[in-house]
Amino acid sequence: MLRVCVCVSGGGTNLQALIDAIDLGTVTNTQIVRVISNNKGAYALERAKKKEIDAIAVSPKDYENRELFNEAFLQNVDGAEPDLIVLAGFLVVLPPKMIQKYEGRIINIHPALIPSFCGKGYYGLRVHEAALARGVKITGATVHYVDEGTDTGPILLQKAVEVLPDDTPQVLQQRVMEQAEWVILPQAVDMIANGYGKDMRSR
Ligand code: GAR
Repeated sequence: MLRVCVCVSGGGTNLQALIDAIDLGTVTNTQIVRVISNNKGAYALERAKKKEIDAIAVSPKDYENRELFNEAFLQNVDGAEPDLIVLAGFLVVLPPKMIQKYEGRIINIHPALIPSFCGKGYYGLRVHEAALARGVKITGATVHYVDEGTDTGPILLQKAVEVLPDDTPQVLQQRVMEQAEWVILPQAVDMIANGYGKDMRSR
């Protein structure tokens, strides 16, 4: 059984997609052992609690400085003894120590086709605003491994989504979630749970 720790900051629809896929049996061999948010008010935490999944908030506001927050955050991740960490709308820069410790065992969902509209400053709705401003006709989502850079790690899965003439950033965001994110994030977890990338993981 792959022990998964999911890190979230907001609504948690990607977390929900993963929970539902596990319930439906389209994701196998997987157990979400903990959900951690940097944001106490994140609805994602409620989604976890409803499923009786251990849900924890570790807020930077409760720590004197970034280093202490990073330490507390990593301790809570470690406490879950995860085989895989899933960043599902997690909008905090990961502690470098955590990236090193869990090399090859952290994945992230990004709401664009990397290398387009990614890197520093590209998160959430901003990604879709940028895609519309550039006038692309196709966008999508990417699941990638996390390394020290921002959205630079090896790509696992991508799915394309059409941009339509009257799209607003909100409408496009919803389509990208429905048609791409909620599909490829569970798919990536299922692949890993069933052996994909074993050689990348050091443990
Ligand atoms: C998702 O669209 C996810 O791809 C994005 O935040 C949203 C979270 O939604 N992540 C990033 O932009 C990371 N760079 P959710 O909380 O409903 O899953």
